[in-house]
Amino acid sequence: MALLPILEFPDPRLRTRAREVLASDFTPEFQTLIDDMFETMYAAPGIGLAASQVDRHLRFMVIDVSEERNRPLVFVNPRILAHEGTQVCEEGCLSVPGITAEVRRHEKITVAALDRNGAPFEIDADGLLAVCIQHEMDHLEGRLFVDYLSPLKQEMVRRRLSKQRRVRAA
Ligand code: NI
Repeated sequence: MALLPILEFPDPRLRTRAREVLASDFTPEFQTLIDDMFETMYAAPGIGLAASQVDRHLRFMVIDVSEERNRPLVFVNPRILAHEGTQVCEEGCLSVPGITAEVRRHEKITVAALDRNGAPFEIDADGLLAVCIQHEMDHLEGRLFVDYLSPLKQEMVRRRLSKQRRVRAA
């Protein structure tokens, strides 16, 4: 397994809309990519990672919101079938390091997706898992949680990140 480099805001590649995963995409290389994404996510550490963030523009993501870090979930070609209510949660993102902000999301969602072997499943999610699924699905559209902030706050995020990068480079 290997750690993959994670793209960081404002990298324009994060704005790519990912394409559907096709039956022909379920190759051994795809399985390795999924394993590498889990390793990268756990090492970061993070609770979710979309393929877009490692510069693979396919519609899938890996998630584990469990305390014990032992409930890995893979969502391929995810679709929200139903949603209910709203919740506001403090979100962060491995592509926007060191920044968190409150974002409004659906409280409960029903999601249809394929697992890592291409088998279809449905899941009802609420709380943190629902937030995480919606956050990662945004990545597949080329959207980031900072897009929901006011232009002024987005500019602050941009400045803070470029300052962090200068410190890291020094
Ligand atoms: Ni993210």
